[in-house]
Amino acid sequence: MSVPPPPEPIAGARLLFSLDPAVSHLNHGSFGAVPIVAQRAQQRLRDEMEADPLRFFTQGLVDRVAHTRRHLAGFLGADPEGTALTTNATTGVAVVLQSLGLRSGDEVLTTDHGYGAVDHSIARECRRTGATHRVLRVPLTATDDEVVQIVRAGLRPGRTRLLVVDQLTSATARLFPVAAIVGVAGEHGVPVLVDAAHAPGMLPASVRNIGADFWVGNLHKWGYAPRGTAVLVVAPQWRERIEPLVVSWEQDSGFPARLEWQATSDYTAWLSAPAGLYTLRSLGVDRVRAHNAGLAAYGQRVVGDALGVPPADLPDPGGPTVAMRLIPLPAGLATTLDGARALQTRIAERLATQVAVMAWDGRGWLRLCGQVYNAPEEYQRLAVGLPGLLAQR
Ligand SMILES: Cc1ncc(COP(=O)(O)O)c(C=O)c1O
Repeated sequence: MSVPPPPEPIAGARLLFSLDPAVSHLNHGSFGAVPIVAQRAQQRLRDEMEADPLRFFTQGLVDRVAHTRRHLAGFLGADPEGTALTTNATTGVAVVLQSLGLRSGDEVLTTDHGYGAVDHSIARECRRTGATHRVLRVPLTATDDEVVQIVRAGLRPGRTRLLVVDQLTSATARLFPVAAIVGVAGEHGVPVLVDAAHAPGMLPASVRNIGADFWVGNLHKWGYAPRGTAVLVVAPQWRERIEPLVVSWEQDSGFPARLEWQATSDYTAWLSAPAGLYTLRSLGVDRVRAHNAGLAAYGQRVVGDALGVPPADLPDPGGPTVAMRLIPLPAGLATTLDGARALQTRIAERLATQVAVMAWDGRGWLRLCGQVYNAPEEYQRLAVGLPGLLAQR
């Protein structure tokens, strides 16, 4: 079966990153990669901080953080008054969970495509409060309408105190119709937290248009920000109830300052996030999105072909900008979290290729990403090496 051609490369883009050239980095989704411009911006801020720490923390830092927050909110189409900087999606989720005041008899509803660490966080909050965690099963091939139907049927108004749904799932690289889900939940009075860890920089949808009660997104993945940069966007009716995990000096200032001021921390990642967006914008946001999605789709076909997976069995995440794609692994491989991690390490060590291996729904999956620093040859090399490696169980 012939594979459609890869997209035109973005000339010189690899040189914008400091990635090891001996390794194929096909897993931007897990921890991102920070362009040199943003690394330098952060280093300059650290130099400034170390030259006079007292001055750095006490003269203007709060305003610089607020300025950054407004900049990021503008990029994401979010209300700047409802946006708070936070360190990562996991923290944003924990902030929301512990602000809800869950009680025995309440439940938190998720899908079986949710992120593992988020599930752990929900489990702990449920243990602490006596609430329960219920998981809706959503088949990988469900259409958007079917997903909305599953959610509608799964809501228990009066009991479901929060629905957590991913905008783009990690384990299954699947785009969920979050605006429609928020609409359905709203009809039943159920608040929604959208886990949009992968959205900033990759997906064009504006946060305002989704209309969720809570939306959390990482800038340090597809937004090229230094690690430790995320935003939590909160609808007006919830802002006063949102409490930080760590109480500090801005506690009486209300949302968002009370969330953002986390005592003596390193705020330089946040302040350099605009430099990451600058890189994205200067390459052309739409161009980067189309390139990355096209390359991920190409990689999926090339590696899928090598593993003998018919194109019809390759999941299609359902969006022209989704830059992560899944390939089913042969039955029996990587069916558990430990097995998936072990295979991922083996691929990295033997083939010098970083990929994500996921265990989901009783089987193993390879997740490939596309980024501006990737080239078609990297997927071709993986396609050559992987079948042999998988055969040596
Ligand atoms: C869907 C989803 N949620 C949450 C996270 C956690 O992000 P972080 O480690 O930045 O908190 C990830 C990370 O990949 C993710 O994919």
